[in-house]
Amino acid sequence: MFIIKVLILIFIFITIMESLTTQLLQEIKKNKKYSSIADEIVLEEINNHLKKNKVEKITKQDIKEIRSKLHRLYSSYLRGKKSKRTKLLHELKNVISREDTSKKPLGVVDIINKILSTAVSAKERLEDYEEIYNKIFQITDKPKTIIDIGCGLNPISYPYMQIDNLNYFAYDIDNEDINFLNEFFKIMRPFGLNGNAQILDAKNLTNVSMIPNGDIIFLLKLIDLINTKDAKPGEELIKILMNKTKFIVASFATRTIGGKPMNLPRRKGFELMLERINLKFEIIKTRNEIFYVISR
Ligand SMILES: C[S@@+](CC[C@H](N)C(=O)[O-])C[C@H]1O[C@@H](n2cnc3c(N)ncnc32)[C@H](O)[C@@H]1O
Repeated sequence: MFIIKVLILIFIFITIMESLTTQLLQEIKKNKKYSSIADEIVLEEINNHLKKNKVEKITKQDIKEIRSKLHRLYSSYLRGKKSKRTKLLHELKNVISREDTSKKPLGVVDIINKILSTAVSAKERLEDYEEIYNKIFQITDKPKTIIDIGCGLNPISYPYMQIDNLNYFAYDIDNEDINFLNEFFKIMRPFGLNGNAQILDAKNLTNVSMIPNGDIIFLLKLIDLINTKDAKPGEELIKILMNKTKFIVASFATRTIGGKPMNLPRRKGFELMLERINLKFEIIKTRNEIFYVISR
């Protein structure tokens, strides 16, 4: 009898929690800014919130707190409206249909730069992209396959890589970004870019372990986002990815969001972690960013 009562209580508790979770998911996604983030990511933040707070009835404060966590992860990196970049993609398609694909796609660079400028990290890198890829590929050689996790709009910088044929697997957590990148990949296929974009949560290490192998794996400005005070999946992520590649390129901002240089641009904690798990690294610095080219 006692066991049945306990089971009924557990059942009621699970039903209440599920209904709270579903309601919160709907409420959070009502705001356009969060509507295209993968459910998996939003649900993770909801569950973290429900674990830390006693929620019986959803309040505005609950929604505000969860949205602000999601803002840090994703939405603060977009500049301007997504409709602008969609228009630019149409322009790119039109220009490319008139280009001679046997030549380098120079005619498209102007539009590419405008698309890159719609994402904060890519815009900051605009003047440095050529130098960054030159220096990375001096260490790694030019890759045949790149894996880019938490990619944002970085795959759009393909023309700066100066590689004639490249397989590019791009992963992020926003459905609209993923669709946008797949459209871009279709347009760029005549220029030797064979790309595919998919939803992937970098913290879901089971799913990460199923991605394909690559010559280089990019984790550009991602690790600071997935590591929190309570959990640091970054180390395990690097260990798993090192079985899939010879080189991981991880980067960190060296300026604050306000644009001021950081006091400690080198990431000593990160460097010590790499040494502890027996990985070597070389450093490349630009005005805004520090890159670690990591290998065994
Ligand atoms: C600072 S932006 C950097 C974008 C790109 N890597 C670059 O450097 O241009 C961080 C990116 O990581 C993505 N992101 C955040 N959390 C993630 C997670 N758990 N898994 C995969 N991507 C994530 C965001 O959606 C965003 O596009």
